[in-house]
Amino acid sequence: MKRAGIYIHWPYCKSKCPYCDFFSRVAKVDQDELIKSYLDDLIYYRNLNNNYHISTIFFGGGTPSLISPQNIEKIIDKITSLWHCSENMEISLEANPNTNHDNLFSDLKQAGINRLSLGVQSLNKNDLKFLGRTHSLEQAVSSIEQVVKTFDNNSMDLIYALPYQTARDWKQQLEQACQFGFKHLSLYQLTIEENTVFAKRGINGASDEVCQELYSLSEDVLSSHGYNRYEVSNYAQSGFECRHNLGYWEGFDYIGIGNGAVGRFHIGKNIYNTFYPRQQELITPHERAEELLIMGLRLKKGINKKLFRKNCGSELDECTNQENLQKLIRSGLITNTETSLKTTAKGNFLLNYLIENLVK
Ligand SMILES: C[S@@+](CC[C@H](N)C(=O)[O-])C[C@H]1O[C@@H](n2cnc3c(N)ncnc32)[C@H](O)[C@@H]1O
Ligand code: SF4
Repeated sequence: MKRAGIYIHWPYCKSKCPYCDFFSRVAKVDQDELIKSYLDDLIYYRNLNNNYHISTIFFGGGTPSLISPQNIEKIIDKITSLWHCSENMEISLEANPNTNHDNLFSDLKQAGINRLSLGVQSLNKNDLKFLGRTHSLEQAVSSIEQVVKTFDNNSMDLIYALPYQTARDWKQQLEQACQFGFKHLSLYQLTIEENTVFAKRGINGASDEVCQELYSLSEDVLSSHGYNRYEVSNYAQSGFECRHNLGYWEGFDYIGIGNGAVGRFHIGKNIYNTFYPRQQELITPHERAEELLIMGLRLKKGINKKLFRKNCGSELDECTNQENLQKLIRSGLITNTETSLKTTAKGNFLLNYLIENLVK
């Protein structure tokens, strides 16, 4: 049996944030009807391939904390009735503090969620306003306290490198983030995406120099508090890496459900990009090698060559431009051993350049 994760995408939000280009809408929907269609899609994929063993489920968005805990439970129950699932399955959900009410977090836990990732974005009142977040700092802190108390496996998202942000401001937030006792932190540099309100307003992100300075600062502060950066933007205390996202970076299959979700799905020996509604597009061996290279180099430990062979079907060395690789090694941007290929600290800032040169 092949290991896979399941990604459940809920593309609705209470409001649209001005920096966000994720597939999400603000709309009134018949939630029960939609959940029925999610359950049908799960059955559809199970009938296409019944040879998966499910190790993780991830409810992402949009804002999946808008799904009622009863409906979350229905989805989890359906998955466990359809597939063979790991005993210690990781079941994550992204929550936005603006959806917190009554006993939301304990109800989610009761429904089967065992890892909660909270989208706080900033621990500074002015930043929250700048980012157009609809929750207050007080709501964020109250949600943080409930999440940390309710879930042993917990995470918080923060956005940094705001155009006016100083190293001092950011350091203060990092120190505060560590005090809350999260097991995992995701720190994203603000990117100004095309067609967002921020782009239309002509807002510029921080300069490359400032981004690099804040990036290094993040790693220094977090490592002094016991967090290891295991991926470009992700930090965890030992044993609390997000197993679902590791599955993407290491090239394991996943089933995508919901109209903004994609999947990587095997039918027989072929791997497909799957997307809504029930569409499949064959991925060529060349495309597959390229995506596994792009994903794998994001990991601090780099690409495990044995795993690459298992999930790609080809040898990593045969899929990379060996002449360019030697140049990148001589420039101190990458290291290549018999077992792995990984970026150096210097190369980590030049990921796109490395990929451009390594892809054959
Ligand atoms: C799919 S979003 C969902 C999170 C949830 N809806 C929320 O807003 O709290 C996942 C994360 O991506 C990050 N993100 C979204 N847009 C971004 C941008 N333009 N720049 C940097 N990070 C961004 C945020 O940290 C967010 O928590
Ligand atoms: S950042 Fe989160 S809440 Fe805001 S629009 Fe994007 S997905 Fe929705």
